[in-house]
Amino acid sequence: PATERAPAVVVGSGYGAAVAALRLGQAGIRTVVLEMGRLWDTPGPDGKLFCPTIRPDRRSMWFRTRTEAPLASFLWLDVVNRKIDPYPGVLDRVDHGDMSVYVGRGVGGGSLVNGGMAVTPPRDYFSEVLPQVDAEGMYGTFFPRARRMLGVNDIDPAWFESTEWYRYSRVSRAHAHRAGLNTVFVPNVYDFDHMRREASGQAPRSALAGEVLYGNNHGKRSVDKTYLAAAVATGNVTIETMSRARAVNRGREGYVLTVDRSDIHGKVIETKEIACTRLFLGAGSLGTTELLLRARETGALPDLDAEVGRGWGNNGNVMTARANHLWDTVGAKQSTMPVMGINDWDNPVNPVFAEIAPLPMGLEHWISLYLAITKNPERGHFTYDAATDSARLNWHRSQSEPSVRAAKSLFDRINRVNGTVYRHDLFGRNRAFADDFTYHPLGGCVLGRATDGHGRAKGHPGLYVVDGSLVPGSIGVNPFVTITALAERNMERIIQEDIAAA
Ligand code: FDA
Repeated sequence: PATERAPAVVVGSGYGAAVAALRLGQAGIRTVVLEMGRLWDTPGPDGKLFCPTIRPDRRSMWFRTRTEAPLASFLWLDVVNRKIDPYPGVLDRVDHGDMSVYVGRGVGGGSLVNGGMAVTPPRDYFSEVLPQVDAEGMYGTFFPRARRMLGVNDIDPAWFESTEWYRYSRVSRAHAHRAGLNTVFVPNVYDFDHMRREASGQAPRSALAGEVLYGNNHGKRSVDKTYLAAAVATGNVTIETMSRARAVNRGREGYVLTVDRSDIHGKVIETKEIACTRLFLGAGSLGTTELLLRARETGALPDLDAEVGRGWGNNGNVMTARANHLWDTVGAKQSTMPVMGINDWDNPVNPVFAEIAPLPMGLEHWISLYLAITKNPERGHFTYDAATDSARLNWHRSQSEPSVRAAKSLFDRINRVNGTVYRHDLFGRNRAFADDFTYHPLGGCVLGRATDGHGRAKGHPGLYVVDGSLVPGSIGVNPFVTITALAERNMERIIQEDIAAA
């Protein structure tokens, strides 16, 4: 295949990749961004970019014949998932045996499908997880920079108290308080002014129309609208879509990527090579780790560190749901953007930060849903499978037990004082806790182990990791603000030392 050249290539277009693209573009470096998913800018036959959550079509999931929503059933019935035509849809579920990982696909990565919760981790836990990173710089400069760039904003507390759209949060808050637990408001990147206009009928509904998992048509400041738009506006950054980086090799100066470009049927229509001086990997925890592991194990980049593929965690994710009393209605109307969490992170035995999650079904169901983030010390590792040329995550079911134990201790407490019980009909196999999937894959190329202290891959100059694979498996809160702020910190240093100085 013909070889193209670019001074810098960024693989992926989620949070870390978007920061890299913008800062490279501003530094005057011509940069090509490669994204395996679509650019979500062309409306479908219904005039919308993304499909409705309750009537998912082919736009919902990445090459599936059936949707695979995290809540598989209702009243034990298989009523949630739908047959769809295979297509490069926006949400993917990557199965690795006992652990499945949900990821976004498309220009914007996870920012297209996530709940927008923009949480800065408690400073002492950040320092426990990443002790080598200067917390002063992070909390003084890079977290504020990331929040500003991402468009983080807060819900008006008075509106929160009065609107029917957050009744579900208020009910869960009351139940937590009755158990002596603290709750906190959580900032979000969803535009709360837009949401209020949705509520008053002055703007088209998105968060108030059940949209989130398969994309938001309005209101959400995903990174395609923030960082990536600014990156493209520098004039130095171009984005190539439906382009999957398959292999990384050493080039004469720098690296050569093998890239497969596919059509909407998933058929590879072009394979090309792109040579670059500097290569930034932002393909997410799974994507970046796979590229580097493959490169090391096939001998393409033999000097990569033995730590590549290690230190993976699911941020202690576990989902659970409670059944409320008939008088505790959660409301048929629920905004999809979570704005509140139960904060028991200082619990010395079972630290938990539990997001009060929406379950918008358009009818009263008396269910309180939660995504708990726990402090699970277990870590998984990846092995390269030559037969399928892919990275396999080694995570055993038993490794999720610490997460379930912690979540159970918190919600048992809430159930006890409120006289309520768990729902067993939502996650399949009659379980009260869903511990077999995560929204928060972290690690695989951990900062300071597989890379130096700023994300430079060990052993291969000019090769950088910029995404969630740098974070060692746990961060105690929803991770994208941390991923973004770390990328800001690392890119500032890399541009100063490796690029401006060169
Ligand atoms: P990210 O995964 O965002 O982007 C990687 C990109 O690279 C993807 O677009 C992918 O298609 C592409 N790619 C992968 N391999 C490639 C290859 N070989 N070649 C080319 N492209 C490739 N977090 C939070 O803080 N608050 C929240 O409310 C939520 N809620 C939430 C809900 C759901 C449903 C999910 C799935 C996730 C969340 N998250 C979240 C998690 C958050 O979205 C996640 O941590 C970040 O998106 C991770 O950012 P990264 O930069 O690591 O990669």
